Amino acid sequence: MTQTSPLVLGAMLFGTRLDEQSSFDLLDRFVDGGGVWVDTADCYAFWESGTGHGGQSETVLGRWLAARPGARDRVKISTKVGAEPRWPGGWPEHFDGLSTRAVRTAFEGSLRRLGTDHVDLLWWHTEDRATGVEETVDAVAPLVAAGQVLRVGASNHPAWRVERARAHAHATGTVPVDALQLSATYLRPRPGELPPGNVHPFGVLDDELRDYADVHALELWAYTPLLSGAYDNPAKEVPEVYDHPGSTRRLEALTRVAKDLGVARGQVVLAWLLAHGIRPILGGSRPEQLDAALAGVRLELSAEDVRRLDLAA
Ligand SMILES: NC(=O)c1ccc[n+]([C@@H]2O[C@H](COP(=O)([O-])OP(=O)(O)OC[C@H]3O[C@@H](n4cnc5c(N)ncnc54)[C@H](OP(=O)(O)O)[C@@H]3O)[C@@H](O)[C@H]2O)c1
Repeated sequence: MTQTSPLVLGAMLFGTRLDEQSSFDLLDRFVDGGGVWVDTADCYAFWESGTGHGGQSETVLGRWLAARPGARDRVKISTKVGAEPRWPGGWPEHFDGLSTRAVRTAFEGSLRRLGTDHVDLLWWHTEDRATGVEETVDAVAPLVAAGQVLRVGASNHPAWRVERARAHAHATGTVPVDALQLSATYLRPRPGELPPGNVHPFGVLDDELRDYADVHALELWAYTPLLSGAYDNPAKEVPEVYDHPGSTRRLEALTRVAKDLGVARGQVVLAWLLAHGIRPILGGSRPEQLDAALAGVRLELSAEDVRRLDLAA
């Protein structure tokens, strides 16, 4: 029997940049390789679609589930609400947010597109400072009570808002946020700067969030773990925001460990994240990229390798 893989398959570009057949092929290959979690969002991928709205990713995922009897019992679906633009071109100033009405309406749409009666993990996609987190907790509570949402996660939120949400959930007897999703990789961006394309002020995993997650046993999920391929694809540059002396030392250590093990640098990054309890989300678009990632998370780095990588900066 195939061993279960901790890798998450990111479905962000399914149904837009990636056509339906290629998306189905990746999903089949992922499940055959022991994959369980698939990550999407109601807003994927509005910036790639002709309409300026999202929904294409969930739709393709729904069609795949419908075409593969039994698949819904094997895969876990995580989707997100809150970041769909209110109108084409509205992002990032005007998005649905996390009010009661916005959450309920968005979630209904997600269930419809996915063709499922529940999601395994519902993420709040990005902070909505116009809505108290208590309102969002209360908006999701009936969905949890009805069995439509099994777990709740916060993506791109600062620690203090997560703490406030969790306190309210505990006080009101609903399930608290138990997972955080942020941009995270082996390199660290310069303080106060965001990786390209990331517009979330609290979109990068920092030491405070890591500490908070450790103490409260929250799951950490890393998006853009491979820097969109920059660790291994010579045609892609490591984004400028990672250009500092710490990165030079980290890249040297990474290259050395990868060479010693005879694997790609990106594979070591995935294994290093997991060694620190962080689950990587792969946005691979090709079968060989998926295979490389599935092999990467199976790599068991020695304690010495992890130490070399940790101490490099
Ligand atoms: N919560 C949030 O706000 C948020 C934000 C962003 C993403 N996400 C989630 O995270 C997922 C992954 O994000 P991402 O796509 O930014 O991450 P990523 O995995 O760092 O980048 C994906 C790209 O990396 C390249 N790649 C993958 N494997 C490779 C390999 N072995 N060698 C060379 N290049 C390789 C491919 O680019 P090419 O196709 O060009 O070769 C692929 O499209 C998304 O699907 C989504 O589910 C969440």
